[in-house]
Amino acid sequence: MQLKISNTKQQTAEDFTDWLIGLIGSSDGLHIALSGGSTPKIVFDELASRGISKNDWRKVHLYWGDERCVPPDNTESNYKMTVEHLLSKIDIPEENIHRIRGENDPRQEAKRYSEVLKEKLPMMDGLPQFDLIILGMGDDGHTASIFPYEIGLWNADQLCEVAEHPETGQKRITITGKIINHAATVAFLVTGESKAEKVGEIIDKRGGFKSYPANLVHPLSGNLLWFLDRAAAAGITNQS
Ligand code: 6PG
Repeated sequence: MQLKISNTKQQTAEDFTDWLIGLIGSSDGLHIALSGGSTPKIVFDELASRGISKNDWRKVHLYWGDERCVPPDNTESNYKMTVEHLLSKIDIPEENIHRIRGENDPRQEAKRYSEVLKEKLPMMDGLPQFDLIILGMGDDGHTASIFPYEIGLWNADQLCEVAEHPETGQKRITITGKIINHAATVAFLVTGESKAEKVGEIIDKRGGFKSYPANLVHPLSGNLLWFLDRAAAAGITNQS
């Protein structure tokens, strides 16, 4: 586990963008699962502003780790947010964008997207493998759209499952622990003081007795990075 702590939310987004651009430049193909949330939104603005070449974007395939079950033009849609902050501003081939179809029947879409991942991603030890999964973490310790009250979804057999937001009841499609912990690299993007308690419990491994979905992210590759701002990292005691 590597911690990369920046002073502010904006700086976290810029530092993550620098790291991601290095990854894109040094690879000949990348399959990346994106996250929703306010921190990725700033990353997308940063990425769009860096003038990454068409040739480099041609190497990148974009997926989503979770999506709200709404149409792609709905203000709640993670895809819509990504179009507004990134996809509408860069020269990436349409065929490289693999959105979750939030407008579909949730159960059928979870199955369809599981098949898309099996078809498009490279296989490693019999399972599709993302090169990079970008994850956020909610104040409650949820990640992707696996919420603490539905933590059993983490161990689902399927690569994608239907989740339900605990307050709003909004249905979501989410990737599950099976594919998250099979990724070559997982990068958390977590900022803000409201995350500090859970981040501290997870990083200091104090959260073992209270498993949050974010606490279950342990990629078998060992490549787990936390991009944090100082506010979110304030609860960490041993930064070993
Ligand atoms: C979503 C995200 C969600 C997000 C966290 C953190 O669809 O809402 O996937 O899991 O990552 O809520 O959001 P912030 O980055 O805004 O703190």
